[in-house]
Amino acid sequence: APMTRYASAGGGPLAASRELKQMVKALHKAGIEVILDVVYNHTNEADDANPYVTSFRGIDNKVYYMLDPKNNSQLLNFSGCGNTLNCNHPVVMELVLDSLRHWVKEYHIDGFRFDLASVLCRGPDGSPLDAPPLIREIAKDSVLSRCKIIAEPWDCGGLYLVGRFPNWDRWAEWNGKYRDDLRRFIKGDPGMKGVLATRVSGSADLYQGEPAEASSWCELYNST
Ligand SMILES: *[C@@H]1O[C@H](CO)[C@@H](O)[C@H](O)[C@H]1NC(C)=O
Ligand SMILES: *[C@@H]1O[C@H](CO)[C@@H](O)[C@H](O)[C@H]1NC(C)=O
Repeated sequence: APMTRYASAGGGPLAASRELKQMVKALHKAGIEVILDVVYNHTNEADDANPYVTSFRGIDNKVYYMLDPKNNSQLLNFSGCGNTLNCNHPVVMELVLDSLRHWVKEYHIDGFRFDLASVLCRGPDGSPLDAPPLIREIAKDSVLSRCKIIAEPWDCGGLYLVGRFPNWDRWAEWNGKYRDDLRRFIKGDPGMKGVLATRVSGSADLYQGEPAEASSWCELYNST
């Protein structure tokens, strides 16, 4: 739901909802798309040491959260926030899909940037899945597949998927290597010219489609 404190004073939730719709409409009129940053990797219900029960913990902890398979009273923590949403469980997956479709249908949001999206590639025991059902469903969904869908392809448990996030030809990636290399170039680190060319021209080392051995854009360019 839109946060009420972002709405003009005194309006409450309904005004917040209406104002967001008006804002999206105004932005579209000005030719600007709206991409929502969404966090489906954890919730506000905190960790085992400081449990904070607002909903899922009380409804069905083991359905909504990833638990340590060796100790079911221990939450897994791939989000850096103490809990991890069990997002490939069928029930949780439907919740996430309904939520995304709601933003598109009600608010006309054009796309989403998924925070710590590697979490969405993990199974109930935390292990990475080859074909994560939620990622696939988002790519195939009749509403969502028409949106821009962008992964932040890593998480706090070390699942680093830059260049190999499961995509079904629909998911795009937030390219952390582009960010890091551009920073190094702007900071003035030596030897960054070739790297800059690789990044600005589309990171063929990551996205050319086949494993690339060549380390610079020129070598790749000459070999194709
Ligand atoms: C399981 O985890 C809980 C919560 O962290 C802890 O209190 C308990 O000692 C653990 N049990 C075992 C057998 O490690
Ligand atoms: C969860 O992981 C983060 C690091 O990613 C750590 O800072 C935090 O203390 C952890 N929380 C718990 C409850 O272990």
